[in-house]
Amino acid sequence: MCGIIGILGNHEVSPQLVEALKRLEYRGYDSAGVASIDAQGRLDRRRAVGKLVNLSDKLVHQPLAGHAGIGHTRWATHGAATENNAHPHLRGPVAVVHNGIIENFRELRGEMVATGLNPESDTDTEVVAMLVAHYMAQGMSPAESVRTTVARLHGAFALGFLFDGQPDLLIAARKGSPLAVGHGEGEMFIGSDAIALAPFTDRITYLEDGDIAVLTRAGAQIIDAAGRPALREVATIDAGSAAIDKAGHRHFMAKEIAEQPVVLGDALNHYLQDDRIILPEGLDFSQASRLTLVACGTAFYAAHVAKYWFERLAGLPCDLDIASEFRYREPPLDPSGWALCVSQSGETADTLAALHHLRGKVARTIGVVNVGTSAIARDADIALPTLAGVEVGVASSKAFTCQLAVLAVLAIKAAHDRGRIDDAGRARLIAELRAMPGLVNQALGLADECQRLAAWLAEAQDVLYLGRGPLYPVALEGALKLKELSYIHAEGYASGELKHGPIALIDRNVPVVVLAPRDELFDKTVSNMQEVMARHGQVLLISDAEGVRQAGEGCHGTLALPAASGSIFLPILYAVPMQYLAYYTAVAKGTDVDQPRNLAKSVTVE
Ligand code: G6P
Repeated sequence: MCGIIGILGNHEVSPQLVEALKRLEYRGYDSAGVASIDAQGRLDRRRAVGKLVNLSDKLVHQPLAGHAGIGHTRWATHGAATENNAHPHLRGPVAVVHNGIIENFRELRGEMVATGLNPESDTDTEVVAMLVAHYMAQGMSPAESVRTTVARLHGAFALGFLFDGQPDLLIAARKGSPLAVGHGEGEMFIGSDAIALAPFTDRITYLEDGDIAVLTRAGAQIIDAAGRPALREVATIDAGSAAIDKAGHRHFMAKEIAEQPVVLGDALNHYLQDDRIILPEGLDFSQASRLTLVACGTAFYAAHVAKYWFERLAGLPCDLDIASEFRYREPPLDPSGWALCVSQSGETADTLAALHHLRGKVARTIGVVNVGTSAIARDADIALPTLAGVEVGVASSKAFTCQLAVLAVLAIKAAHDRGRIDDAGRARLIAELRAMPGLVNQALGLADECQRLAAWLAEAQDVLYLGRGPLYPVALEGALKLKELSYIHAEGYASGELKHGPIALIDRNVPVVVLAPRDELFDKTVSNMQEVMARHGQVLLISDAEGVRQAGEGCHGTLALPAASGSIFLPILYAVPMQYLAYYTAVAKGTDVDQPRNLAKSVTVE
């Protein structure tokens, strides 16, 4: 339940709400809705299932008047993606939008049912509106009612409320889920992030856990978790209000794949100057006893690659965890260890919760994030931007390779700090890394070949991806990309693990994508590939021209990447065919490339 916006403005509010929701659609697109209060003080709403465009179309035929409003874009948790379950939820004089999960909603709903109120939706959220309406009916003010309600909620939430008959009142509350207040000229805003508010204001207050904000057009009064008035900083932030377009590409993802040489160059130029590494103070890796790497999805695979780099280059022991498993596993943490949380959005609830769990238990928390204004960027001790620029495609491409670039810089720094390499060794690794944007640029030339091969992949029901060493997580990422975009079942395996089970899946209908750079593991990977071919498996070999010459015979297809034999940073290059194969397979199947079904770019519930 995903992105929320609220506006007390001086113009018709519904176009502004839709504009903000466009910027929040990365948080979910199962349904969207808006509510507003018109000149007579009447509360009304419009909701539509599916993408935001369905709501905008509805608003053309059924406009919504008023200068005060709230809006929501949903990633369904409780209750199917129906109009009935779409936010805002209205009960009595109260309208509410919610991001998060109310864990004790069943118990609270039971209580409301006992008072004679019947639920109208399957959501956990509706009970919040019921409770606030219930307390108002007992004579409490809107603010008291919200305070009393919020004190009873378990779970995580960012909430926005409007009240019938009160066109100059917007109340917000947060616990766990992020929420920002925006300050305009005689206008006030709330939003799940600063990016949503960027078209309206760059003056932002981030609410803290337990805060309730009572907004009128004159400003915001904030009450902290203990019920005391709180002063919170108003920061001027640059969240980029520029419109985002496809620059002539058919999909955002195609544009974002093509941008990689440039954004990788930008990221490396930010952190490298000649043979020197430029990083904030406090990153001397000789002080770190071990490194805990935590992330989700594609960012997790970037962290997985980085584990190989930190261990091999710097001899720094690494623990790698999926964020949703991490804190519940209760891993023993070394107080002199460091932690790295990797996240494109910087808002993923699992990763954010892991970061909060780590604080105070390790010596340093580092966020590697693409969105510089995000919660993880703010809450980590040190935030390192990946500088990929805005990524719109839900399936990550350029953000992944930029994460790899920044993590590679950190691994080189760690190797030097820990005395594993001297200045010359560092210069050699930096030169290898600096070659990557150019090599990625050459790899973009494989687009047409990938498109041809995608016609074959699109026919498959299952696809396997194999890789070894740092290319193993790239195989996992390749499989994830294909699943996300084309809905074809795909799995990644470490090449050497194939014979321990997955080889049973091989027949002539299962394409096997083999990542085989000419490194010290090339011969072993090729042997694993031969084992597949001996069982009639159809192989797509990805190597360089020499690798393809040596091992390509009998393969269904081959892709020759530019040669960079032996570079430990090859995962950055091999990511490109993973992206193109998934992209073109999705195009061949006619799926929604930029907004695949059931996904959200950032999942803000645990
Ligand atoms: C969601 C997206 C994935 C993404 C993951 C982590 O599940 O669908 O594509 O990799 O979140 O997102 P983050 O913003 O933390 O990198």
